Amino acid sequence: MVDLGYYDPWYHDSLSIHKAVGILAAILLVIRYLWVRLQPRPMHLNPNNSVNTLMAKGAHALLYLSMFVLMISGYLISTAKGQGIDVFGAFEFPALLADSAERGELAGDIHELVATGFIILVGLHTAASLLHHFVFKDNTLLRMLRVLKS
Ligand code: HEM
Ligand code: HEM
Repeated sequence: MVDLGYYDPWYHDSLSIHKAVGILAAILLVIRYLWVRLQPRPMHLNPNNSVNTLMAKGAHALLYLSMFVLMISGYLISTAKGQGIDVFGAFEFPALLADSAERGELAGDIHELVATGFIILVGLHTAASLLHHFVFKDNTLLRMLRVLKS
């Protein structure tokens, strides 16, 4: 998406898809976050291993924080010129703030930085889940994949 030239058809299409999927993901994120907060949730991590628990809690909090920052900054880049975001022709997510090229550029810098960090964090998170499964041999991954109940 970043390397495409202006006249490449994907220059516009890839960004439209990125933004539309982003809005749908943002809606799901809010629902998921409210669900996680409102739902009493058993803490499955080993309470005796406080370093692991702290790392997992910290990583999960960072994953949520990065996603919120990505959604908000993405929205601010897209709406910097006062245009709403078309979501696959189904509806338009409106631009709520006054135009500001400066705010749009700042949001762009934040978006790029946080996206890079997020991609690395997801990689580490996935590696940690595989470590649990293949090295610690516990049921963390199976539980997440709903192979095991509880
Ligand atoms: C998990 C969520 C997201 C990830 C990982 C992500 C990732 C990225 C990446 C890697 C870029 C290229 C950055 C660059 O090098 O300039 C980008 C650009 C962009 N993203 Fe996202 N994005 C996400 C969500 C969103 C959302 C929700 C929106 C809008 C609703 C959005 C709108 C944009 C726009 C407009 C650009 C172009 C930026 C520019 O031209 O400076 N993104 N995104
Ligand atoms: C965009 C990619 C991902 C994001 C944003 C993400 C985010 C999260 C978050 C926030 C949690 C904490 C629990 C919750 O709030 O639901 C979690 C738990 C977990 N995730 Fe991910 N995850 C991603 C990808 C993956 C992948 C690819 C795997 C495995 C291959 C994975 C395996 C797990 C496991 C095993 C847990 C622990 C569940 C538990 O303690 O019961 N995740 N993930």
